[in-house]
Amino acid sequence: MRAVVYTEYGPPEVLGLTEIETPAPKRDEVLVKLRATSVNASDWEFLTGTPLYARVMGVRKPKVHVLGSDIAGQVEAVGENVTGFQPGDEVFGDIFGTWGGFAEYVCAPEKHLMLKPPGMSFAQAAAVPQAAAIARQGLYDKGMLQSGQAVLINGAGGGAGTFAVQMANILGAEVTAVDNTEKLDIMRSLGANRVIDYTNEDFTRVDKRFDLIFDLAAHRSIFDYSRSLNPGGRYVMVGGAMAPLIQLGLLGPWISLLSRKRLGLLMLKQNEGLPSVVAQIAAGEIAPVIDRCFPLAETAEALRYLGEGHCRGKVVVTITPEDCTNSQRGTVPHSFMS
Ligand SMILES: NC(=O)c1ccc[n+]([C@@H]2O[C@H](COP(=O)([O-])OP(=O)(O)OC[C@H]3O[C@@H](n4cnc5c(N)ncnc54)[C@H](OP(=O)(O)O)[C@@H]3O)[C@@H](O)[C@H]2O)c1
Repeated sequence: MRAVVYTEYGPPEVLGLTEIETPAPKRDEVLVKLRATSVNASDWEFLTGTPLYARVMGVRKPKVHVLGSDIAGQVEAVGENVTGFQPGDEVFGDIFGTWGGFAEYVCAPEKHLMLKPPGMSFAQAAAVPQAAAIARQGLYDKGMLQSGQAVLINGAGGGAGTFAVQMANILGAEVTAVDNTEKLDIMRSLGANRVIDYTNEDFTRVDKRFDLIFDLAAHRSIFDYSRSLNPGGRYVMVGGAMAPLIQLGLLGPWISLLSRKRLGLLMLKQNEGLPSVVAQIAAGEIAPVIDRCFPLAETAEALRYLGEGHCRGKVVVTITPEDCTNSQRGTVPHSFMS
């Protein structure tokens, strides 16, 4: 089978399209014939080996050689202990920890897959798992966002952010969305009440406080974040630079103890909450935002597009060209378009 392989950390040039052996499923695994795989910030981090935590699977060289964790495809074969799926089933899920999505086939644990709703294309299904789970768990579970509250979503124009803006809007929150200049229009069209361009303005210096700051791109001191919260407010960090992450680990519990504010890190529970997300998509309340699709042979370009900061919403790699038609691009629900 064809797979996009890398053996050293670096820029997208270290990736190469190669023939490798098609894997065979172990007892609890499902062999999936892939149709689409979306690109996540975590793929970029594991490709480049930065920040440092992206080297947990190999300090000097990556031990996993095929990236890609948000997959959608058709079941080709199942291991002897698999009871939930059979060949021909259309499935999707986040297989982070197994990886291997930038290829024609992958073996995935049964527990990380679910049936793809028939109305959803493979490209759309691949765009959902990790990004939507981050948004759902961050806003609903960890952030406990309520109707009427003021939420700030930092990094709102990316994969998880575009889901978060829509979900916060559905919850009835007042949404401030922060990202770069190119992404202001999409954030407005998804329902943000106010947008901030992080290249021009520091949201921790604006004259407004928030009940929840949902941070997908932490780059500031946690004292700045704490100051931007209303009394009783919550700060939920998802990703970003190492310095704020370390600061949050060391000082977050103390600030939380001494103030009426909660500062914490989201520890993503893989695929948790996705049935609710699928129901929201089926009801037309939210939709995955797909910026561009790339064919498998251009996976390096897809990663570069995300890594260089152009991507609005999700980038998807499709294995067959027919899975990437124009109708699957820019799938913002019409009700959200201004
Ligand atoms: N905590 C966990 O368990 C867990 C699990 C999985 C993933 N993650 C993390 O979740 C994060 C978000 O994922 P994602 O898929 O949504 O990433 P994404 O699609 O790359 O979106 C991130 C967005 O943040 C923007 N951004 C970059 N620097 C910024 C800044 N200084 N201020 C405001 N916005 C900024 C990016 O814009 P540009 O294009 O300008 O860079 C991009 O639009 C990643 O950091 C990932 O590592 C965490």
